[in-house]
Amino acid sequence: MTLRRFLPALFISSAAVLSAQTMHPSGNMFRPLATPARLVSELSELTVVVCLAVFIVVGGLLTYAVIRFAHREGDNLSEPPQVYGSNQVEIAWTVIPILIVFVLSMSTARITAAVQNQKIPKDALYVTVIGHQWWWEFQYPDLKINTANELHIPVSTMAQPKLTSLTLKSADVSHGFWVPQLAGKTDVIPNRTNSMWMDPQETGTYLGNCSEYCGTQHAKMELRVIVDTPEEFQKWVKEQQAEAASTQPDANREAFLASPCIVCHTINGVTSMGTVGPDLTHLMSRQTLVAAEVPMTAASLRDWIKDPQHMKPGNKMPAVPLNDTQLDQIVSYLTSLR
Ligand code: CUA
Repeated sequence: MTLRRFLPALFISSAAVLSAQTMHPSGNMFRPLATPARLVSELSELTVVVCLAVFIVVGGLLTYAVIRFAHREGDNLSEPPQVYGSNQVEIAWTVIPILIVFVLSMSTARITAAVQNQKIPKDALYVTVIGHQWWWEFQYPDLKINTANELHIPVSTMAQPKLTSLTLKSADVSHGFWVPQLAGKTDVIPNRTNSMWMDPQETGTYLGNCSEYCGTQHAKMELRVIVDTPEEFQKWVKEQQAEAASTQPDANREAFLASPCIVCHTINGVTSMGTVGPDLTHLMSRQTLVAAEVPMTAASLRDWIKDPQHMKPGNKMPAVPLNDTQLDQIVSYLTSLR
C-alpha cells in the first residue's frame, strides 16, 4: 500500500474507532468521567507532552546533524578538529533533565495526594468490594445488599454531589480493581484493606477489569459499574432489599433446594445460605453472567449450570449432575428471581 492510500485508510479507521467509543462509552480511559480518573488523565497528558517535546528536540537535532554533516563529493576526509569538554553543554544536559524530572515528580506527588487525601463526606455511599477467583462481590453494609459483578452507584452532580467510597478486600489471592473511566487501579490484596473513591459525573454503564494476574481465569474477571440517577438508584436499592419473590410453581423451587447449589449460593428468604459463590437473590436484575462475560439469558444460564467448566475452565463452580428436567426446573426458578 502506498503512503497516499495508507494515510486516508488510517484516518478513516481511527475515526471509526473513536466514534464507536463515543457511542458506547465504556472502558475508554481517554474519556474520564469522575474526579480521580480525570486527575490521572491530566497527569498522563502532561507526561506525554513533556516526552513528546524531548523527542522532537532530540530527534530534530539528530536529523539535522545527519543531513547537515553527511559526506559530500569533494569533502576533505582527514580527521576533523577534536574538542574536549564544554562546561556550557554539560551544565545544560544536566540541569534540563533535572528540571523535567522535578516537574514530573512534583505533579505526580500533587495528584496522588489530591486523590488519597480526599475527605469522605458522612453521606457517602459505602461499598465493600471483595475480589474472588474469578468474580467480584459487592456488599453495601449500610443498605444490607449483597450482589456480584455489577456495581450500582448514584451519579454525582454539582447540584447533588454524591461520593462512593470503596473498601477493597480479597477472599483469596491478589486482584486489581480498575474501572478506567472512573478511577485509577487499586490493588486488592489478601489480609489487607485498601480503599478508593469515585464520583461519577455521567449516568451509564462503565466496564472494569481485574488488573492483577490472579490465576487461570484472570482475563474473565470483568465487572460493570452502573451509574444511576438518584431516583433509579433508590429504586434499585428497594428492589435489592426485598426478599426473593418467585412466581414459579413450588416444584421448581424444591428442585433448586434439593440441589447442591444451596451449599455455595444465597437466596434471601429461602433456605439457601452459602457464601462461596455469588448471591442469587435478585439474579435476573443483573445484565450479565460469568463475571460480566455473557449476557444474562435463560439459555446462557442453562449452559453455565450444565457445564461451568466449558464456559470458564478452572473456575470454582463444579458441574452438578442433573437430568434435563431438574436443569429446566432450576433454570425456571432462577430466571424468576428479579
Ligand atoms: Cu482477579 Cu486478575
